[in-house]
Amino acid sequence: MAHGASALTILSTLREISPNGFLHTAIDPCQTTIWGGSSIQLINDEGYAKNFRFYEDYSAIVLANLVKEKEKFDFAYVDGSHLFENVFMDFYYTSILLNKDGIVLFDDCNNRHVAKVIKFINKNYFDILQPFNLKPFEDPQKDFQKKLGNLLGIRQLIGFRKISEPPRQWNAKFRNF
Ligand SMILES: C[S@@+](CC[C@H](N)C(=O)[O-])C[C@H]1O[C@@H](n2cnc3c(N)ncnc32)[C@H](O)[C@@H]1O
Repeated sequence: MAHGASALTILSTLREISPNGFLHTAIDPCQTTIWGGSSIQLINDEGYAKNFRFYEDYSAIVLANLVKEKEKFDFAYVDGSHLFENVFMDFYYTSILLNKDGIVLFDDCNNRHVAKVIKFINKNYFDILQPFNLKPFEDPQKDFQKKLGNLLGIRQLIGFRKISEPPRQWNAKFRNF
């Protein structure tokens, strides 16, 4: 959550597209200790308290509990710890928690840890998570540096749509990534 930029973006978008009812769930183990509760304050000030649920813990723990509770989500945004092992856990639990046709976005995919998880998905999880084209949502005013980066295959944000339910078969082929 940090200072709440993405949480507020998600909440205000949900209010626009689903005014009759929406809930955003966010996870951050350091919201109080490092961020001084700034995003919680902002979300309350903007009147979203009833549409917002927050867990102050590590995502691997919270997401596993949500799986246990059989919760389902239409959309997930992964932007917590950027260590490979944590992003991998976020990916793994999210792939279970999403509804069919649900979308997951990974931020900072130019980070080598995150990029490695994306490679795993593309090579080994393509039957479950299919690349989701974000081009129609891109800012047409994007600066030259970003355009050049994209041409070179560098993407900050990468999305997938869930097309089938995990797990894979126990003896699924392993593809190097
Ligand atoms: C890059 S910031 C997120 C920024 C936010 N998405 C935004 O746009 O404002 C990363 C956040 O992940 C949190 N974080 C660090 N380790 C985490 C973990 N294991 N599980 C969940 N969140 C974690 C940090 O405290 C921080 O708030």
